[in-house]
Amino acid sequence: MSEPYILPRKGSIQDPLRIAVLISGGGSGLLALLNYQQSNPCAHITKLIISDNVNAGGLRYGEDFSIPVAAIPLPESKNNVEQRIMHENLIHDILLNSNIELVVLSGYMRILTPNFVCKWKGRLINIHPSLLPKYPGAHAHRDALADGAKITGCTVHLVDEGVDTGKIISQQEVPILEGDTIEKLQERVKKVEHQLYPKVLDIFCSQDS
Ligand code: GRF
Repeated sequence: MSEPYILPRKGSIQDPLRIAVLISGGGSGLLALLNYQQSNPCAHITKLIISDNVNAGGLRYGEDFSIPVAAIPLPESKNNVEQRIMHENLIHDILLNSNIELVVLSGYMRILTPNFVCKWKGRLINIHPSLLPKYPGAHAHRDALADGAKITGCTVHLVDEGVDTGKIISQQEVPILEGDTIEKLQERVKKVEHQLYPKVLDIFCSQDS
């Protein structure tokens, strides 16, 4: 059964929403968000950075911006389902202990199970590098190029129980150019993501729930 979205409280500049950002890699999106929060009055503030990958380059931004980080790798288990649930429960506990009000996925490369999603639904937001519902999943740029698409983009959406199927909040187009490779396209889309995500978060965090 699909649970309803329960939105966070309305944040303000005086009392911003406490955000945790989940990453798996380089964290260029995280860096863009932290720079934005530092130079603009916002209704959101990053209070925690979590990575499933202990070697994620983006973890270094915790030190740079004096924000606590938690590297939480998959725990040992022979049972894959059990392992995913244990991992998500560890993440859930640290989110609760840090009084997090909104979970921001930014290059987090694991698919979250309904076990986790149902606890945060409406307070769990993602950016995906395509114009959803086109090209969901981990290979959006490869799939867009293979499809011969002329336009792609990025989508900010609430996370639901499916893979990149949640309610769309905002999208922005990016052209695909002659001679594009996955890497070139990814860089062009990321630049747009870095502008779009913080602004969408501003609007999302300032709305009445
Ligand atoms: C972004 O394009 C994001 O949309 C996708 O993974 C990329 C993360 O890049 N899910 P980075 O780690 O923020 O540099």
